[in-house]
Amino acid sequence: MKIALFGAGYWGSKLLRNLNAIPDVELIVVEPNEQTQYNLKRVYKGITFLNDRDNLMDDPDVAGCVIATPASTHYKLAKDCLEKEKNVFVEKPIAGDSTLAKELLELSKKSKKVLMVGHTLRYSPSVIKVKELIDKGEIGKIFYIASRRINLGIYRDDVNVLWDLLPHDLSVLLYWLNEEPAKANGFVKDAVINKHTDIGFINLKFPSGIICHIEVSWVSPVKIRSTVVAGEKGYIIYDDANTAEPVKLYKRVFNVEFQEDNWFLTHRIGDIYVPHIEGKEPLRLEMEHFIQCIKYGRTPLTNGEEAYKVIKAIELIEKSVE
Ligand SMILES: NC(=O)c1ccc[n+]([C@@H]2O[C@H](COP(=O)([O-])OP(=O)(O)OC[C@H]3O[C@@H](n4cnc5c(N)ncnc54)[C@H](O)[C@@H]3O)[C@@H](O)[C@H]2O)c1
Repeated sequence: MKIALFGAGYWGSKLLRNLNAIPDVELIVVEPNEQTQYNLKRVYKGITFLNDRDNLMDDPDVAGCVIATPASTHYKLAKDCLEKEKNVFVEKPIAGDSTLAKELLELSKKSKKVLMVGHTLRYSPSVIKVKELIDKGEIGKIFYIASRRINLGIYRDDVNVLWDLLPHDLSVLLYWLNEEPAKANGFVKDAVINKHTDIGFINLKFPSGIICHIEVSWVSPVKIRSTVVAGEKGYIIYDDANTAEPVKLYKRVFNVEFQEDNWFLTHRIGDIYVPHIEGKEPLRLEMEHFIQCIKYGRTPLTNGEEAYKVIKAIELIEKSVE
């Protein structure tokens, strides 16, 4: 199956490595940066590299396009691909606002082509394991979720940190909770470049009453990717940076006893479980899923509808924070 990859920079080169490992995929890479192209050509001998897309989209053998260019180019490229009746995988964020995201969604429905967004964490075995634990009732009713996604850069000039990093947390929250945030507030800061948000301390409330805190930042000397899911019967800790034990389930609860007008609180310290997590690379699973969706006409897990919901949530956050 012929697949065209647009953009083979930091992230696109990872997609390239994974696509190249899928049997039956024949890759054509469009990458205007000559140095990047030169470096990749030395590693990938059998792949065709082009400087620009020229008439590539008119090639009827190109079944799908994978877009890993800067965020500001996503909407236009994805639209062109869908209009040429190509199946499309586009990195997050899919477009610059929800109206444009909706337009892509409608276009994919009209052309009956796959529209898949790069919400990579949805393909992470750890994230799927947390969902399983929640759905099995291991921690009971959820009280709150608190997530930190901080590191030093990559400092992007066409999107701020909310549009760059929040799609990850929001796609995971939508998946775990099966609902969209109803309210948002919080604070943002432009620490390094004037008027370019690089830190966000975000609070969300969902219709079920669950509250969430998300910290996103490009201004941290260390990389932290950790999430606490707190429930009435226990806690789940998901730490994406801990490759050996990314998910832990703490069976710890509070016992409250009421005697007349007083309440007495005790802790019950239970076991800690470390579930086995498959060591598969989320990106490989994501790219395999895209190819399968094209082959069998399936709707992707992270489809245009999900991309639209995530962008709507970012817009809610952006207009609610100070
Ligand atoms: N899903 C994830 O976890 C994840 C992680 C990192 C980045 N990303 C996304 O990947 C995208 C790319 O990010 P990056 O860090 O690789 O940026 P990058 O700047 O390293 O790479 C972008 C590449 O696109 C090329 N390019 C620009 N315009 C092009 C065009 N019209 N056609 C073909 N190529 C073009 C550039 O030459 C460059 O090599 C961004 O949208 C980012 O949000 C996703």
